[in-house]
Amino acid sequence: MCYLMTRKRWWRLILLGIVLGVSYAWFSRTSIEDWWNSPGSWYPPDNNFAVKPYVQPGDSPNALALLWQTIEETDHLAWAVQFQNEPGRAWAATSAPQWHRLAVEGVPVLRLYRATLWGLSPGVTFSYRVIRAGAPVFEASATAPKPAGQSHRFVVFGDCGTGSTEQRAVAYQAGRARPDYVVITGDVVYLRGRASEYLDRFFPIYNAEISSPHIGTSLLRSTLFYAAPGNHDLIERNLDKHPDGLAFFYEWAYPLNGPEPPPGAPAGVLEGSAARVQAFRKAAGSAFPRMANYSFNYGDIHWTVLDGNNYADWTEPSFRSWLEGNLASARGAAWRLVALHHPPFHSSKAHADDQRTRVLAPIFEKGGVALVFAGHVHNYQRSRPLRFTAGPPEPNAAGKAFGPSGMLDGKWTLDKVYDGKERIRPDGVIYVVTGAGGARLYDTDQHDVPSSWHDFTARFVSNIHSLSIVDATPETLTVRQVSAEGAELDRFVVGRPEPPSLAR
Ligand SMILES: [Fe+2]
Repeated sequence: MCYLMTRKRWWRLILLGIVLGVSYAWFSRTSIEDWWNSPGSWYPPDNNFAVKPYVQPGDSPNALALLWQTIEETDHLAWAVQFQNEPGRAWAATSAPQWHRLAVEGVPVLRLYRATLWGLSPGVTFSYRVIRAGAPVFEASATAPKPAGQSHRFVVFGDCGTGSTEQRAVAYQAGRARPDYVVITGDVVYLRGRASEYLDRFFPIYNAEISSPHIGTSLLRSTLFYAAPGNHDLIERNLDKHPDGLAFFYEWAYPLNGPEPPPGAPAGVLEGSAARVQAFRKAAGSAFPRMANYSFNYGDIHWTVLDGNNYADWTEPSFRSWLEGNLASARGAAWRLVALHHPPFHSSKAHADDQRTRVLAPIFEKGGVALVFAGHVHNYQRSRPLRFTAGPPEPNAAGKAFGPSGMLDGKWTLDKVYDGKERIRPDGVIYVVTGAGGARLYDTDQHDVPSSWHDFTARFVSNIHSLSIVDATPETLTVRQVSAEGAELDRFVVGRPEPPSLAR
């Protein structure tokens, strides 16, 4: 009896311990946000790389930039970069890598290094190695940008940086496609576009040592990544809340060839203490705020990347004339494509009222844009070729034509002859939403329910994560939407449109 009582007591004690333990764990649990805030939780030191080398655009067509980041506190040794322009050739050294400090709260003080690989042979794959204290610590290969006339491949996806299983699977498919470059249609990292989020849920997934559906891809070390800024990347302007926010402006190095926002425009506004604003400005340099819009050429394509955030007023005349001029200047290119985060046209219930970027549609049409890639809406959608006229009143500088939440009504004319297979020359612009790169999917109940779509929507896939893979030649663009599992979900061909001088 005494023995049984003792056993019961023991059991009671064990149960009490379990209850107390679970309660303690529950009440003292760390939020995801807090966990992200703990510097060092995301990063196993590896030759002092906080971010392993990644490829960015160079200053000329036959150059590329190589960027990497180190933790300043332990960065005591000299760095160098060598590259081998073609197999069998001698290794050449770049000029000494330059660095500047990223000293924002939320991450350790980092050094962002940059070396320029120059004199590259267009379209040729070359090797490079990063050297620390005389010893190679990182080696990879990359391909110099391909010239006009040579076919190439690019992939597009958006709304990706959550760290999810699906993000990794889509990243893996992007790597499998072996693209010449990647375009991200915004919301690069969640939730607030912070440097700590890039370290946690972007760089390790797109610059992984091992490519696998459960890990990601090593693509970033060999392939250009371009990104349009999304709302999660740029909408938070209060650096007291997130001192390492707006990291888009220093993680990337895109050409500063977009329009400078007018003085006082919301795109250039920063909030927070003077010290935090200054730390951000030092990290971003001249990239803020100008780099939110830019353009670049690759092969036969002229790309225009736009900031479609709500504060970016695309009824503003100087911005509109910049875009018109940008597209007109690319009249000689076979293709003019656009990437932005907020889709002008989509059929999701989510973000249904978010229509501000429709004011851009007439400029796209006049400029002979063939395809507009967007994200924001977390699924895949393809429109029929369309032309849009904003319904009265015309949008004005005050944006009064926008309804509540940014609605912009109007009329669209659809090309119903185009089928993307036999009839491939569109009359109008095709709008693609490819925002299924990793974040939770939107409107899965609208998948395969055409009655819930606008008549401009030709295809709507919302039951699986996916990416767009595009093969470009001077005459055609072949677009395939591929699932995170590698299955083809959609395929359409676009024949080269009329030059913009002939466009309506
Ligand atoms: Fe978004």
